[in-house]
Amino acid sequence: MAERVLVIGSGGREHALAWKLAQSPHVQQVLVAPGNAGTASCGKISNSAVNVSNHTILAQYCKDHNVALVVVGPEVPLAAGIVDDLTAAGVPCFGPSAKAAQLEASKSFSKSFMDRYGISTARWSSFTDPQEACSYIQGADFPALVVKASGLAAGKGVIVAKDKEEACQAVLDIMKDKAFGAAGDTVVVEELLEGEEVSCLCFSDGSTVAAMPPAQDHKRLLDGDKGPNTGGMGAYCPTPQVSGEMLQQIKTTVLQKTVDGMKEDGIPYVGVLYAGLMLTQQGPKVLEFNCRFGDPECQVSNHPPPK
Ligand code: AMP
Ligand code: GLY
Repeated sequence: MAERVLVIGSGGREHALAWKLAQSPHVQQVLVAPGNAGTASCGKISNSAVNVSNHTILAQYCKDHNVALVVVGPEVPLAAGIVDDLTAAGVPCFGPSAKAAQLEASKSFSKSFMDRYGISTARWSSFTDPQEACSYIQGADFPALVVKASGLAAGKGVIVAKDKEEACQAVLDIMKDKAFGAAGDTVVVEELLEGEEVSCLCFSDGSTVAAMPPAQDHKRLLDGDKGPNTGGMGAYCPTPQVSGEMLQQIKTTVLQKTVDGMKEDGIPYVGVLYAGLMLTQQGPKVLEFNCRFGDPECQVSNHPPPK
């Protein structure tokens, strides 16, 4: 029987998800909440005005409208426990639990996790006291540093510093001036990694992983790789930077290892796991995890992986 699916979010990513879901013979209608102009009325797809931040209202809406599956696009509702609450109310929902979403929502959580399970990442330390962070920066033997708000900051909470002074200033901006609000109560200071940046995503059921083709997004705002970092100005996929062999290596040493570690910790990871990686001279290293599809990567991930 054809079913009704509800997609949560309002970006190009959610339009791409709705577009693909609508092609399934199992899907009769796709609702997008809140959606955007592109999803307002487009074949089987239409927008819904349901309140997505009140999970009790949302669960009731899903029951009243026979929604068979909820697919969550962005990280904020995932970190707020939308999957936990809808699942508890008996509404099937695709994505990680709030605890599992900490892989993205707390950089100090994900960095400690990676260290415990031997997943390759930049050397780092986290701080709740700005003075201690600045002393660490002054004593660090890395040539260049990156300062990050630990919490969710819509991809903007990362400052790549050109020297130690700028790194300390970044700590003060984040911790004292609250440049990213409560997301900056804890900061992560890490070494700058150099190389090509790629996005390797997979689906996971909590035990196994199925890798998607590797993508690369255009990070900087302006042409010629200039301007501030953004959440992504566009993307292409598959990227020739990642061979079939390297994807296999990333799948084993990063994606599967992460899903295994989360299972071991009693926080099974179900949903899309996105590893942002720097291809350094010492091999791929994890820059960050995201607990969802990338936007714009989701809009291009429809090619077969390289051989
Ligand atoms: P994050 O939210 O941690 O992925 O950081 C956002 C962006 O900042 C990444 O996509 C990278 O472009 C850049 N970045 C983060 N950490 C590092 C690092 N250690 N070295 C170089 N660039 C980084
Ligand atoms: N393209 C980066 C992201 O979705 O976070």
